[in-house]
Amino acid sequence: MTSTIKCPTAPTYTDIQSIVADDFIIMDEQVFGSLNSKVQLVMNVSQHVINAGGKRMRPLITLLCSRMLDDSPSQATMHLAAITEMLHTATLVHDDVIDESGLRRGKPTANATWNNATAVLVGDYLIARAFNLLVGFGSLPLLQLFSDGTCDIAEGEVLQLQHQHNPNATEADYMSIIDGKTSRLFMMATQGAAILQNQPQYLEALGRFGQHFGNAFQIIDDVLDYSGDSDTMGKNLGDDLAEGKPTLPTIKALSLLKDSEPASFDKLRIAVQTGKTDQTEQIIDLVHRSGALEYCKDRALEETALAQTALEALPDNRYREGLYQLTQMASARLL
Ligand code: IPE
Ligand code: IPE
Ligand code: MG
Ligand code: MG
Repeated sequence: MTSTIKCPTAPTYTDIQSIVADDFIIMDEQVFGSLNSKVQLVMNVSQHVINAGGKRMRPLITLLCSRMLDDSPSQATMHLAAITEMLHTATLVHDDVIDESGLRRGKPTANATWNNATAVLVGDYLIARAFNLLVGFGSLPLLQLFSDGTCDIAEGEVLQLQHQHNPNATEADYMSIIDGKTSRLFMMATQGAAILQNQPQYLEALGRFGQHFGNAFQIIDDVLDYSGDSDTMGKNLGDDLAEGKPTLPTIKALSLLKDSEPASFDKLRIAVQTGKTDQTEQIIDLVHRSGALEYCKDRALEETALAQTALEALPDNRYREGLYQLTQMASARLL
């Protein structure tokens, strides 16, 4: 274990949301309210995904960061937070097509409800609309942050696709993938607030916070794919293995089993190579027995600690405390 959690009683997600309750309500209304497509199918599919729920974690981060830098209501920040969620929703709609997932936010996915073509096109629309709205800020630095970031997200997903069925993928490969597909959006959520608040002196620390928090969050999500509960997560679990996705749990399990248990190593290697396996239970059990999940939990805690260290360079107030608590809460999903 490389880090310690300071707070003895973990706050709930609702407690953290309530720190920016008024901003949060306005942001949440804007996530769907900012969509104005004249094509009914676009509205129906978007509504289906957006109204299915979701934690609204990235916009919550933006709202907390903004208030941390300047404690007054900022309509621009609420709007940017909503756009961040729109982009996130688009990546999920696309991701569920790529991953052939059937359940998201406790509801059938867009691809399962309509079809792949519809989901891809509506995902495209959501990204296009997000940029359409971003132009309205008249801020080139903001547009630069979001266009660079969106390229990185797409690259992360493509990199992941490239490593599908690759049992030789390394932890470094995995970190490059999650850096793009997940952590980049967390960085956009944090740094966007500094740009809108015109406080560039905090860009570096905010970026560091977003990146490490994003890393921790994705590692935890990948552990939960092996040990979580489908009802709580609102999505089907075991998908990563079924898709032959070398996430950190499998990458580490392979390296731990290689010398100690060659037969198990082979079984897992073949499962990654071929994807679908009729021995899912045994393979999941192997990953559990290998000690890989403990390693992943430690890595997630390391990333959490780095995110928390980044907070030290930022203004010390209740919003910063909220961000700290959010990292705690994310880590607690492991317990
Ligand atoms: C899911 O993100 C995608 C990952 C980065 C693991 P969330 O867990 O934040 O999903 P929602 O928005 O709450 O549905
Ligand atoms: C989430 O990736 C999608 C993005 C971060 C773009 P995953 O495929 O790992 O997450 P879930 O398990 O489907 O939510
Ligand atoms: Mg997925
Ligand atoms: Mg996952």
